Amino acid sequence: MKERSAIYPGTFDPLTNGHLSIINRTLKIFDKLVVAILTNPQKTPLFSLDERISMIKEVLKDKPNIKVESFDGLLDDYVDKKTTNVIIKGLRALSDFEYEFQMAIMNRKLNREIESLFLMTDFRWLDINSTIIKDVAKFGGEISGLVPPLVCKKVKEKYGY
Ligand code: PNS
Repeated sequence: MKERSAIYPGTFDPLTNGHLSIINRTLKIFDKLVVAILTNPQKTPLFSLDERISMIKEVLKDKPNIKVESFDGLLDDYVDKKTTNVIIKGLRALSDFEYEFQMAIMNRKLNREIESLFLMTDFRWLDINSTIIKDVAKFGGEISGLVPPLVCKKVKEKYGY
C-alpha cells in the first residue's frame, strides 16, 4: 500500500506539548510527517532556525518517520515541491478558527491540490501556544509540563535562569 504522508508547518518558537500532541495524532493517520519550520525574516524569533531544528530533531529522535525541514516564502510553493499535498494544522479554541480558515482558503486558491486537515490538540494543551510560553518564561513563570523537558531547559537558558 502507498505510504501516506503529511506536512505540519509552523514557526515552532518553541515546540510545545500542544505541537507534540498534534504530531502524535497525525502519526495515527499518516505513515510519515514532515515538520516544516517557517524561516520568517520579518520576525525575530527567540530561537534561531538552527536551534529550532536541532531541538525538534532531538525531541522527536525516537520517531524515524518524521523529518524536520525549513521553508521560506509561501507554504503552497513549498508543498508544491513535496510528494504530498496534505497540510496538518492544529486547532485549539474557536479563536484559531478564523485565521486558520483564511489561510486554508488562501492556500487552496494558490494551489487547488492542497488539502488542509485540522486536528484538535489534547484538551490539556488547549490554552497554550508558543507565545504564551515565552511570555510566562520571560518573567520566571514555571513552564515545565507545558513543553518537552529539553525545550523547557533551553527556554530557561535563553532567559538567563
Ligand atoms: O506556528 P504558526 O506561526 O501559527 O505557523 C503559521 C504558518 C507558518 C503555518 C503560516 O504563517 C504560513 O504558512 N506561512 C507561510 C507564508 C504563507 O504561505 N502565507 C500565506 C498563507 S495564507
